[in-house]
Formats: sequence, structure tokens, C-alpha cells
Amino acid sequence: MIAAPGDPSARRPSGPWGSDLAAELYARFADGIARLERFDPLVATLGKSYAGEERRLLYLMVRHAAPELVFELSPKRGWSTLHIAAALEDNGRGKVISFELDPVYGHLARSTVRRAGLGHRSEVVVGDVRDMLPQVYERWRRDGRVSGIGFLFIDSEHSAPFATWYIANLFPLVVPGGLIHVHDIEAAPERVVSGAATIPEPLGEERVLAEHLIAHREAYRWWSVAAAVRDSAYLERVRPWGGGRLALSPGRRPHPIEAALGMERNPTLWIEKLGAQEAVAYPYRPFEPLRVPLGRRLRNVIRRRLAFVYVPLRERRRERRRRAKAATPSA
Ligand SMILES: C[S@@+](CC[C@H](N)C(=O)[O-])C[C@H]1O[C@@H](n2cnc3c(N)ncnc32)[C@H](O)[C@@H]1O
Repeated sequence: MIAAPGDPSARRPSGPWGSDLAAELYARFADGIARLERFDPLVATLGKSYAGEERRLLYLMVRHAAPELVFELSPKRGWSTLHIAAALEDNGRGKVISFELDPVYGHLARSTVRRAGLGHRSEVVVGDVRDMLPQVYERWRRDGRVSGIGFLFIDSEHSAPFATWYIANLFPLVVPGGLIHVHDIEAAPERVVSGAATIPEPLGEERVLAEHLIAHREAYRWWSVAAAVRDSAYLERVRPWGGGRLALSPGRRPHPIEAALGMERNPTLWIEKLGAQEAVAYPYRPFEPLRVPLGRRLRNVIRRRLAFVYVPLRERRRERRRRAKAATPSA
């Protein structure tokens, strides 16, 4: 039985995890995985940094957890949002609430899910997530709509201070058995902490997260997708169900590591909370606020108001440039 949100002492008995769980989910939701191909034409415009294996696993983990509410930090153009919303729709329940700093991306994320017919599964909140999430969470908690976080998706600012904020304020709200996805984590925490990770992530999120997990290893278990996709045993298990396809899709700009490897890197870390929920109310542990100059703040207000005219023009220009670049033979 999954621990009820808000029950601070409950613990979830361990089920399959890592490759075992992935293989089980691929087999169970094979039809849903096949239908994700409807989003493939969007890879070139939306899916530039979120690769095939991690998007399939994101879909599968949302199917598996069947959450009522997913907190997403952050959607950008809505590629991850689309996969979360598609899984919620296939579950027949749940909503994703996404926090995006940039008003233009907020507008784009909304239109991405709406165009896929999934707008009813999604809500996008524009602003610094560190300011907006406490407002939304506390309003909903008082209304009895939330009493913890069951599914947390993190692919936002990849800095050490940002990681310190979410570990202090969001991890305590996660319920036992709750899932946390962190993107752009290239190496497993033990490798980061022991110094065995050869390519340190430059902004510091990876190290802060790794140190927290290792220091509280009894309260979490985790699984590195970046490590899994380099393991032939994992790939053999999931390939019969359409998993483990690591060829770089046409139109996707490879990360320098991918360009060197000649395949996708999939830097996702999946974490399951095993320990107790430490807080039901938002903890309000402090953070360094963004210093946005007045000019930028005003520009953002205008961009937000005019997004419905400005964004389609901007995206058409971006698409024209992308096509022109794709048509130019490389030297
Ligand atoms: C790596 S992108 C997210 C990619 C997205 N998950 C996808 O699948 O395409 C990071 C996003 O985080 C947003 N962001 C950065 N700092 C933020 C903050 N403090 N609050 C809210 N959003 C933030 C950026 O504007 C950007 O859109």
C-alpha cells in the first residue's frame, strides 16, 4: 500500500526499482510507449535537451505512480510537460502544475499541451518558482487540495543555490513513496561524492544533490538513467518494448557529451523517498532572491501581456532559421 500523503511516519515497502522497474513498466505500458511517437515531429523544435530514453521513462514513471498532482520545475517550451500530461491522460486522472520564470516560455508551454489536446491536464504558473510555488502550495493546502508532494519533476536552474533551495523546501514535503526526477545529473551520486565522476556539472546542482542523498541514504533510493543507458544488460531488457533507442534524433542538437559519445546521454536521476514526510506546510527556508533589474522586469510584464501576438511571430522566425540551417550543407 502506498503511504497516504500527509502521513509523516509511513514508509513504503520496497518494490522493484531501477532497471527492474523500468523493464516491468515498458512491458506493462508498451501501447502507451508506441503512441508517444505522435510527438516525434516536435523533437526538433521542443525536445532539444531531453532525450528519447528519458522521455519514455518519464511517461512510464507517471503511469506507474498515477499521481493526482505533479509539480514541474520547469517546462520551458513544454516538452517534459507534454509527456507528463500524456501519461496523466492515459491514467485517466491527475494534473501537472508547471512553474516557469520566462513569460514567453510559459505561453509556449501552455500552447504545447493545448495543441496536443491535453490542456485540461496542465496549469502553467509564470514567475520564480521559489516565490510562486509556496503561494500555490499553501493556498491549495488550506483548501484541502494538497498535503504533500507525490511527484516532483526538477529541470530548472541547475545551480548549487537553487538545489539548496529545493532540498530545504521541497524534499521535506515529499511523501513516503513519492518520486523525484532531477534532470541534467550526469553521474550517480556515489560517483560524484567519491570524485569518480569525470565530467563535473559546472553549476553545482549535481554535487549539492549528491551530498544530500549520500548523507541521508536511509531516506531515499535512486537510479541513474545516464548509467543505465551505458549498460548493455539494461538496453537488452528494454529494447523488445521500444526502449533503449539511443540514436540521436534528426533535428536534435547534441550536447557536447553526446557529440563525443555518438549517442544520447539521458542525464536523469530518479529518486524515491523512503523516509518520512518531514513537513506538510511549506517550510519557508530562505533563499537568495533573483536580482532582476527594473528594465528586465518591465520587459517581462510587456512580454507577458503581448505573448499571444509576440510568441507566434518569434516561433515562426525561429522555425524559419532552423529549417534554413538544416538545409545548409555543413562544411
Ligand atoms: C532546462 S529548461 C527546462 C526544459 C524542459 N523541462 C523541457 O523538457 O524542455 C529550464 C527552464 O527553467 C526555467 N527557470 C530557471 N530558473 C527558474 C526559476 N527560478 N523559476 C522558474 N523557472 C525557472 C528557465 O526559464 C527554463 O525555461
